[in-house]
Amino acid sequence: MEENRYLTFALGKGRLARQTLELFEKIGITCEEMKDKNTRKLIFVNEEEKMRFFLAKGPDVPTYVEYGAADIGVVGKDTILEENRKIHEVLDLGFGKCRMCVCGPREAQDLLQKREFIRAASKYPRIAREHFFNKKHQTVEIIKLNGSIELAPIVGLSEVIVDIVETGSTLRENGLEVLEEVCALSARMVVNPVSMKMENERITRLIALLKEALSQPV
Ligand code: PRP
Repeated sequence: MEENRYLTFALGKGRLARQTLELFEKIGITCEEMKDKNTRKLIFVNEEEKMRFFLAKGPDVPTYVEYGAADIGVVGKDTILEENRKIHEVLDLGFGKCRMCVCGPREAQDLLQKREFIRAASKYPRIAREHFFNKKHQTVEIIKLNGSIELAPIVGLSEVIVDIVETGSTLRENGLEVLEEVCALSARMVVNPVSMKMENERITRLIALLKEALSQPV
C-alpha cells in the first residue's frame, strides 16, 4: 500500500462534526485549522496523520463515501437509512442520540391502530415507507417535506408525521405526541467498501482506538 495516501473523512456539518473532532482528539488526532470559526476553507489536512477532513451536508455524507470521494464518513443513522447507499456502517459513536417516531395529535392514535388510510408528512420518506408499508402493513400517503415537519398536522396537511424526537420539546410546544417509535438513532461511522479492503489496517486500528475511547467514562 502506498505510504502517503490520505485517509479522507466526510463529516456531517454542525454539532455532529464538532463532537466527532472532540472524540478524535481523545485518540490524539487533531485538526487545528478546522476549529477556526471564521474560515471559509472546505477541506482540512492533518499532515502528520495523513488525514483530510471535509464538512458536508448530512445527507451528502453517504454519497461521498459510496463513491469513494471520502473513505470514512460520520453521519446520523437517520441519514444512513434514508440515503440507503452502498456503505459499511462500522461504529456507533454514541452521541447525537435521538429517536425516529410517528407523531401527531393524540386523536391520531386511533387512526394508526385501525390502520386507516392517512397522510404522513416526513423529511424521511424512505424510513416512513419502510415503517408503514413493510413493518406495519398500513397504506398511507407519504408527503415529503424539508423541515418544520411538526407544522403538517397542525395546519391539516397530514394526520401524522415521521420525524426525529430528541428532547420532545418541539412536540410538547405544538400539542403533539409520540404515537409510535420507529427506531433509535445516533451518530455512526461509515466506510467505503473498497477503502475497507485497501486501507484495512489503518481503518481497523482507528475503529479499535475509537471504541476504546468511547468505553472510557466521561
Ligand atoms: C429536529 C426535528 C424536530 C426537532 C426535535 O428539527 O425535525 O423538529 O429537531 O427536537 P426536540 O425533540 O429536542 O424538540 P431541526 O431542528 O433539525 O429542524 P428542521 O425543522 O429543519 O428539521
